[in-house]
Amino acid sequence: MTNIAMIGFGGVGQAFAEIIAERNAKLQADYGMESNIVAVADLHKGSVYDKNGLDIEVLLDCVQRDGTVETYPDGADVVKGLSSLETIETTSADVIMEVTFTDVTTGEPAMTHCKRAFASKKSVITTNKGPVALAYRELTELAEAHGVFFGFEGTVMSGTPALRMPKETLAGNEITEISGILNGTTNYILTEMEKGTSYEDALAAAKENGYAEADPTNDVEGYDVRYKVAILASCLMGVPLDSADIACEGISGLTADDVQAALDQQEKLRLIGKVKRQPDGSVKTSVQPERLKADHPLAGVSGATNAILYKCDLLGPVMLTGAGAGRKETGFSLLIDYIHYQKHQSRQLA
Ligand code: HSE
Repeated sequence: MTNIAMIGFGGVGQAFAEIIAERNAKLQADYGMESNIVAVADLHKGSVYDKNGLDIEVLLDCVQRDGTVETYPDGADVVKGLSSLETIETTSADVIMEVTFTDVTTGEPAMTHCKRAFASKKSVITTNKGPVALAYRELTELAEAHGVFFGFEGTVMSGTPALRMPKETLAGNEITEISGILNGTTNYILTEMEKGTSYEDALAAAKENGYAEADPTNDVEGYDVRYKVAILASCLMGVPLDSADIACEGISGLTADDVQAALDQQEKLRLIGKVKRQPDGSVKTSVQPERLKADHPLAGVSGATNAILYKCDLLGPVMLTGAGAGRKETGFSLLIDYIHYQKHQSRQLA
């Protein structure tokens, strides 16, 4: 039996809980996985812990009806009011799902959550770009030193396996360049502008559709892509970078005329994040709007869809395209990591 604690219980955390409730029997049949969500701690929605496992349907009812998990029915072993750190350190959880809000300036509180979990010999699965973009090497080394698992697939392109696919399935190739459309909000805005919608109306629709970050400055100024480029450089190219060192230009300065001028030349304006291996082993990175010729593989990627292109020395270019955001899609990224956590545990025991 694997015990899970959810740290943060917004849309993504709730989506993961729904997936577990719905697929528990299948996960058990297919992978021998038995799962209990034992604890939830959220800054705004309160906390609840039962070492025997919480009833997920009841838990979701409470949070969706009352906006808090603290209306969960009392019981002999039900404890309420634990802080996030108390939940991480003192409960019977084996895996911490860290899905608190992203602060990429300090990485907090997610950074501390990860470190304290590792020190307590607990595995962490997160969709939070902050700690991974800021401290990839430190956190992966810490997890390894404590013999625990650290999963962060959802930090780049949500559940589309932009990290694990190249690391596992393309293993053996040298990846010489990675470029991609890594932000749904900006791609949606640019695609809408191609149809004649104004920048402001397209941004408002991206907010309504839930693609945009809480502060869309992160999207439109390219900061969200910059953090993802830092994660790609660290995780896939082995070159940890300070995201602040990545040159970054967003789309807020683009006008309807710029978009039209590209179309007139049969080109598409796209916000591209790029990491390119240099002859001395270092990498060159960029985040900027680029004009792509109509036959470029990324030119046909429209709307909120993301895509990433890996140039491999043995296989040539490989492109992966899919969702880059969304409640269920990002909740699914936690499931992919969780299944790989189970494989990691089996290897540890072998
Ligand atoms: N705001 C991001 C996007 C969500 O639009 O792609 C995922 O990081």
